[in-house]
Amino acid sequence: MRTHNLRPLLGIALLGFCILGICEGGSLRKNFYRSSCPRAEEIVKTVVWKRVASDSGLPAALVRLHFHDCFVRGCDASVLLNSTQNNQAEKDAAPNLTLDGLDVIDEVKTEVEKTCPGVVSCADIIALAARDSVAFQFKKSMWEVLTGRRDGTVSRASDALANIPAPTFNFTTLKSNFASKGLTVHDLVVLSGAHTIGQGHCNAFSNRLYNFTGKGDADPSLDPEYAAFLRTQCKSLSDNTTQVFMDPNSGVSFDSHYYAVVKQNKGLFQSDAALLTNKISSKIVTELLNQNKFFTEFAQSMERMGAIEVLTGSSGEIRKNCAVVNS
Ligand code: HEM
Ligand SMILES: *[C@@H]1O[C@H](CO)[C@@H](O)[C@H](O)[C@H]1NC(C)=O
Ligand SMILES: *[C@@H]1O[C@H](CO)[C@@H](O)[C@H](O)[C@H]1NC(C)=O
Ligand SMILES: *[C@@H]1O[C@H](CO)[C@@H](O)[C@H](O)[C@H]1NC(C)=O
Ligand SMILES: *[C@@H]1O[C@H](CO)[C@@H](O)[C@H](O)[C@H]1NC(C)=O
Ligand SMILES: *[C@@H]1O[C@H](CO)[C@@H](O)[C@H](O)[C@H]1NC(C)=O
Repeated sequence: MRTHNLRPLLGIALLGFCILGICEGGSLRKNFYRSSCPRAEEIVKTVVWKRVASDSGLPAALVRLHFHDCFVRGCDASVLLNSTQNNQAEKDAAPNLTLDGLDVIDEVKTEVEKTCPGVVSCADIIALAARDSVAFQFKKSMWEVLTGRRDGTVSRASDALANIPAPTFNFTTLKSNFASKGLTVHDLVVLSGAHTIGQGHCNAFSNRLYNFTGKGDADPSLDPEYAAFLRTQCKSLSDNTTQVFMDPNSGVSFDSHYYAVVKQNKGLFQSDAALLTNKISSKIVTELLNQNKFFTEFAQSMERMGAIEVLTGSSGEIRKNCAVVNS
C-alpha cells in the first residue's frame, strides 16, 4: 500500500529534476552539452554537412555506423575502437563489410576537441552525425537526438558477429535479434527503412541469384526480372567488390520508397524480403508507404535505437581519440 502511494510522487520528483535540466544519474537528454560545450552540436553539423556536400554516400555510411554501434554493447562508440595486439575489435569483424565514414567522425572529434577538450563523447558524435548527414537533404533534422552517452572501453569482433543481424536472417531471427535490443517488430520494419539509402555488396545477397537451395536456383521470393537484372551486376557468387543500391531508383534520397521496393519483391536482402512473410510486419510495410508516416515513425524508432544500453552518468569515459581507450 505504502509503495503504491509513493510511486507517483517519486515519478513527479524525477520528472521535475529532468525539467530543470539536472536529471542526474542516468538518462539521455536534449542538448546535454548546453553548458559544457554549447557549440558541440553546431560543430558536428558543420563538419558533416561539408563532407556530405561532396559525398552523397555518406548519410548511408553514418546511419549504418550508428546502427552497428548501438547493436553491439549499446551505443558506446565501441565500433570505433581499433584492434590491439591482444584483441580483435568490432571493426575487424566480418559484418563490417565496409563500415565507412569513420574518418568523418574523427574529423568532427578533432574539431570538437579544439573547442571543448574531453567533454563530448564519440558515441554522441556518431548519433549526431547520423542525424545531421540525413538532415543535409532536407536542410533540417528528421529526428531528434538526445545526448549524454559516454564511451565504452571494450570492443570485440565476436560481439559484432553475435549481435549484428545477417542479411540471410528470416522474420523469426530478425524479430528475436531486435527483441534482444528491446526493439519491437514495429521498430524492425521502420528501421529497415534505412535501406532507402545506400548500397550492398554482391556477396551479401548473391546466394539469392545463383544457388539459393544448392540447385543452381534463384530465391523464388525475389522478383525474377529483378533477379535477372541483378545477375548482370553481380557476375558470380564470389563477387565481393561490386555494390548495388538497395533502393535502386532513389538510393541517395531518404524517402519511403524502400517499402515500395519491398512490396514489389525487390528487396535486396533476404532480411528485406522477410518483412513480407509475417502478417503484422507486412501490414506495417504497407502503412509505411506513406512518407509522412515513415518520417514520424523513423524518428521515434531511431530515438529508441539510440538509447540501447547507453552508458551515462559516470559510467564509461569520454575518449580523447575515438579509436583508442584513454590510457
Ligand atoms: C534488419 C536487419 C538488418 C540487416 C540484416 C541489415 C543488413 C545490411 C547489409 C548486409 C548491408 C550491406 C552492407 C554492405 O554490403 O556493404 C546493409 C547496408 C545498410 N544498412 Fe542495414 N541491415 C539491417 C538493419 C539496418 C538498420 C536498423 C539500419 C539503420 C537504422 C540499417 C542501415 C543500413 C544502411 C544505411 C546501409 C547502407 C550502407 C552504405 O551504403 O554505406 N540497416 N545492411
Ligand atoms: C586506428 O587504425 C587505423 C586503421 O588501421 C589507423 O589508420 C589509425 O591510425 C589507428 N588510430 C590510432 C589512434 O591508433
Ligand atoms: C573490416 O574487417 C576486415 C577484416 O575482416 C578489415 O581488414 C577491414 O579493415 C575492416 N574495415 C574497417 C572499415 O575497419
Ligand atoms: C529461421 O531461421 C532459423 C535459423 O536459421 C531457423 O532455425 C528457422 O527454422 C527459420 N524459420 C523459418 C520460419 O524459416
Ligand atoms: C551450389 O550449391 C551446391 C550445394 O551446396 C554445390 O554443390 C554447388 O557446387 C553450388 N554451385 C555453384 C555454382 O556454386
Ligand atoms: C573477396 O574475395 C577474395 C577472393 O575470394 C578474397 O581474397 C578477399 O579477401 C575478399 N574481400 C573481402 C572484402 O571480403
